[in-house]
Amino acid sequence: MPKTQTITDIHDGCEVDSLFLLEQIDIRKKKDDGRYLFATLADRTGRISCKIWGLPAQSADEIEALGRSLQQGEVYRIRGFAKVFNGECEININDGILDLAAPAVIPASEKGEYVYSPVDIKETAIAIQNLAGTIGNGQLKLVVSLALMDAGGFYEKPAAKKRHHNYRGGLAEHTLETATIAVAMACAKKSYRIDRDILIAGALLHDIGKALCFEEKGIGYAARPEYDLIGHIPLGITFLTRFKDYLDDATYLHLLHIVQSHHGEYGEVMPRTSEAWAVHLADLASSTLREVADDIAPLEPGEGKWRGEKSGKAVYRI
Ligand SMILES: [Fe+2]
Ligand SMILES: [Fe+2]
Repeated sequence: MPKTQTITDIHDGCEVDSLFLLEQIDIRKKKDDGRYLFATLADRTGRISCKIWGLPAQSADEIEALGRSLQQGEVYRIRGFAKVFNGECEININDGILDLAAPAVIPASEKGEYVYSPVDIKETAIAIQNLAGTIGNGQLKLVVSLALMDAGGFYEKPAAKKRHHNYRGGLAEHTLETATIAVAMACAKKSYRIDRDILIAGALLHDIGKALCFEEKGIGYAARPEYDLIGHIPLGITFLTRFKDYLDDATYLHLLHIVQSHHGEYGEVMPRTSEAWAVHLADLASSTLREVADDIAPLEPGEGKWRGEKSGKAVYRI
């Protein structure tokens, strides 16, 4: 079956029948104790939510069994109808459930059609490497470049399952934004006396643990259990211990402190140095602006929402 419809073609009330990548799937409970499946679908043009209700005769056990059999990272024929719910267009599947029995076989040359990434991955990688290249401390520069390389797939991986920068290349994009904003803060006032080297190193490695949280699955990336069970900060700290002997004690401790404290008041350790504060605030700026921008994007001019899906904040489109 050729792919004839893209996500940007889908609008309220239209019939949907095309191939899409299954990015995520959750089994959810209905009010009557039945089950439905909540999926995120993707193609090159974007992402869309999909609710799989099934046939009226299907039991909760059958829906659950289907939910467990569907494979993230595979492409499926999606047959249903689009409907706007809570201000967002989503696909609903009833009898189209029969088409979900097995994934479609996609030739390697067509896999790019199913990957959603608003990031120029090559350009982002070059910008990160250029910024890392400006670190004056040779040992610290070496640690940054080795860490970005050793983490595996850093430039390709997403930064999250659901929230900010949750698409291919999102981790590198968020990292570059954080470092760029942090450097701008350092330049805003000389009397902040921010050490530019440790600031850049800390900003570029603050979420390095996230690279260890995702693995390739089919065409996409899926979160490993460590994402929820351990979290990216302890994973990042543990990962960075391998570079202890490359740095003097004070620099090593400062780098780990920046990583450990980058969630500020939401984390276990508050920032205690100017550089750690700058990375925390830059991280917050990058993540908040991405979430707010994503929440505003689908709104019409003059339309608002009390609770944006990603930001959790009230948003409005002027
Ligand atoms: Fe983080
Ligand atoms: Fe971050």
